[in-house]
Amino acid sequence: MAKKTTTFLLLNLFLVALSTLTTAAVSPAVFVFGDSLVDVGNNNFLPSDAPKVNFPPWGIDYPGRTPTGRYTNGFNYADYIAKAVGLAMSPPPFLSLSNGNQMLRGVNFASGGAGILDTTGGDVIAMATQIEDFEQVAANLTERLRKKSVALFLEKSLFNLIIGSNDIYTLYYLLSPGNSTQKDETVVLILDKFKHQIEKLYNLGARKFAVLGVAALGCLPLARVPISSYACNEDLNDLCLRFKTATEALLKDLSLSLKGFQYSFGDLYEMFTHILSDPQEYGFKEIKAGCCGGGRLNAEYNCLPNTTYCSNRSQYAFWDRSHPTQALHKTMAQLALYGQPLFANPVNIHQLMKS
Ligand SMILES: *[C@@H]1O[C@H](CO)[C@@H](O)[C@H](O)[C@H]1NC(C)=O
Ligand SMILES: *[C@@H]1O[C@H](CO)[C@@H](O)[C@H](O)[C@H]1NC(C)=O
Ligand SMILES: *[C@@H]1O[C@H](CO)[C@@H](O)[C@H](O)[C@H]1NC(C)=O
Ligand SMILES: *[C@@H]1O[C@H](CO)[C@@H](O)[C@H](O)[C@H]1NC(C)=O
Repeated sequence: MAKKTTTFLLLNLFLVALSTLTTAAVSPAVFVFGDSLVDVGNNNFLPSDAPKVNFPPWGIDYPGRTPTGRYTNGFNYADYIAKAVGLAMSPPPFLSLSNGNQMLRGVNFASGGAGILDTTGGDVIAMATQIEDFEQVAANLTERLRKKSVALFLEKSLFNLIIGSNDIYTLYYLLSPGNSTQKDETVVLILDKFKHQIEKLYNLGARKFAVLGVAALGCLPLARVPISSYACNEDLNDLCLRFKTATEALLKDLSLSLKGFQYSFGDLYEMFTHILSDPQEYGFKEIKAGCCGGGRLNAEYNCLPNTTYCSNRSQYAFWDRSHPTQALHKTMAQLALYGQPLFANPVNIHQLMKS
């Protein structure tokens, strides 16, 4: 009898251990790629000439008023997505990893200033390098787990891609104003590269993609300053609109040509136009000026340690001349997670994770 109980107990323990391992391997992880919208501290580890925001008042609304290297006053889009899909913590910056177990809930490869093109952003971690970094992580996991369970783990994981704004913004100012041929050439140039990057991630095992499109960048405080009565730069917005339309078409094509490829496209362009044309509806009072900075619309100078900043941060759409406040990040995440098809198509992230 005693022997039987022991055997039963051991078997039970074995089963519990087994199921813990299995759920550990299949519960969602999030791998984040992108730019300053989702950087959670990678740039802090780069040489001193890289763009950094690891000083106050950045992070003033983050727990402990900590300047973590996030390009906002508090949490960002990546944090809200991670939380909503059930992670206790936002995936850590790739450059902060010190042991393999930290990879099991995902990793954040994003770098402020980065673009799809290697030439965008200078001394930062370009998208191609972020994907190479992921390749290392995948190889590392494969060494420690069974190959089959790594494949299953990646298949269930969310690949959160937020990139392209820096490419568009940089290239726009090299075009002749109003030339739509040049705009379309620019879109093709960037998306051809993006296509190959997504295919590479797919070949490494990624299946569920959440792509956040490029915003109406012409409505950033920085872009409004030179325009009369601080209206949006509609010529820049036109380039962004072309880019987002072509991105949607690209994702649809990929889902038809790559077996098992699933995606949610977060239409940040559409989100911006709705939020900015009806700010009250989304809880915002100030959508033109940044909260922290100097000069017109607080958009002529960067947000530095000696810069003044607003007190009602939750009422501002923009924290500085070009980055959303935590409040706007949260709204963007809500719309990408649970929004109607206008904001997230063909499904939202919540639906993508259930399928
Ligand atoms: C896996 O990652 C851990 C932590 O970064 C590191 O110590 C280990 O050497 C890595 N292994 C491989 C094979 O890359
Ligand atoms: C627009 O740009 C294209 C390609 O650079 C050029 O061939 C064309 O002449 C330009 N059109 C105008 C109206 O400037
Ligand atoms: C704030 O600091 C920057 C860089 O340290 C400096 O260039 C600028 O003049 C300072 N501004 C004021 C208002 O003190
Ligand atoms: C902050 O919000 C309060 C309450 O809505 C308002 O009375 C006050 O004027 C706002 N201050 C600023 C600086 O926007």
